[in-house]
Amino acid sequence: MEAEAQPLVASRRGMGTMASIEEQYRAATEKSAQLAKRAERVMPGGDTRTTTNYKPYPLTIKRGEGPFLWDVDGNRYIDLLGNYTSLVHGNAYPPIVEAATKAVRDGSSWPARSEAQVELATLLCERVESVERIRFCNSGTEAGMLAAHVARRLTGRKLILMARYGYHGSYDDLEVGLAGTDGERTMLADFGEATAFEALLSERGAEIAAVFLEPVLGSAGVVEPAAGFLERVAEATRRAGAMFVVDEVITLRLAEGGGQQIFEVKPDLTMFGKIIGGGFPVGAIGGSEDVMSAFDPRNRGSIFHSGTFNGNPVTCAAGAVSIRELTQARIDKMAKQAERLAAELARAARQVELPFSVRQCGSLMNVFFLKEPPPATIAREDARAIANFHLAALNQGLFLAPRGMIALSTVMTDEVLSEICERAAKAMSDVAQAGE
Ligand SMILES: Cc1ncc(COP(=O)(O)O)c(C=O)c1O
Repeated sequence: MEAEAQPLVASRRGMGTMASIEEQYRAATEKSAQLAKRAERVMPGGDTRTTTNYKPYPLTIKRGEGPFLWDVDGNRYIDLLGNYTSLVHGNAYPPIVEAATKAVRDGSSWPARSEAQVELATLLCERVESVERIRFCNSGTEAGMLAAHVARRLTGRKLILMARYGYHGSYDDLEVGLAGTDGERTMLADFGEATAFEALLSERGAEIAAVFLEPVLGSAGVVEPAAGFLERVAEATRRAGAMFVVDEVITLRLAEGGGQQIFEVKPDLTMFGKIIGGGFPVGAIGGSEDVMSAFDPRNRGSIFHSGTFNGNPVTCAAGAVSIRELTQARIDKMAKQAERLAAELARAARQVELPFSVRQCGSLMNVFFLKEPPPATIAREDARAIANFHLAALNQGLFLAPRGMIALSTVMTDEVLSEICERAAKAMSDVAQAGE
């Protein structure tokens, strides 16, 4: 594998240590800057995915291989994000490339079942205890829409209850979580506050179709649930006759059976996405045979749910490899590596006297330039420091989320991990020198 290491930034960018973090970034990414300008002429703000936008302009990536990405200027980055947790086996994982290439050669998609579709569905039903039947769609967002639709159909109610700052995709009724205030058909309560969920379920239960929860908040900063929180909400949801929807779009990577296995809850419906597509667009919902029979086309009045690319053969072939190869041993190894990385990042921050904290859960983590990790939030108190660190990390060849989220992959070697630690320490030192 081509993986020529690049020297750390001061010499790599040839600008000396006095150049600001942004100047270093601009100097090394001229082609990305040109492409950002071109993109602005044809896409609003030059972008098509809000989460991946950052100042002064986002990179244009040319290719990925294993734990690395290369941008159009030829800079190499260690990929600490894996397309926001989806590439759990890294970039261009050979067994996935092989399976997907075969599926493309076989015709990409057709309006009929494929063998790969049945295989991926079988793997998910075998691994996730609450799931007996699966329905595929094309994104986590669609999975959220579908789960809301089923819950509303089966309960005859309209309202959704979810966590403040929870994220279940870009569907209006679920996206309000990010705003932190109730929507027209959505009520919010604080993640971890079982009493708040119980109170709303007891007061407004007759109007609530479903409660949506991530087992571990992803976008809001990798926040684990307080002990007993998920069980209490599940119980209150059941008492209210509403449906309990667990969003495993990110957390399926935490255990073979997902977050619901770790936290011992049994949802009525589970949302899937990201890793189940092996790097291709995907979404799905799953549940018991009884609940999912709402979709069974043999039943009168079943839910009409279609989609040209639902369960498409390329996605399903790639997804089946991704899931089959995500063994518990690999999950455990990633978690150990993440523990080491979190400790090393904290040490590097201490050395340059930056306030720092990290929340880590399995192979996921989020860093904060605050003494203590904040409660679940989207608006960051350390917005300036994290933006500086993100850019400084890119200058050092580390690709992570602008909000400081990191997701490891199974192809991360201990050697690459050591390189990450060294480069992150340099980025921290640049942030400390910037003094903002
Ligand atoms: C927990 C969770 N649910 C749902 C989604 C939406 O998935 P997609 O981006 O595939 O629409 C995301 C995306 O980041 C997510 O993190």
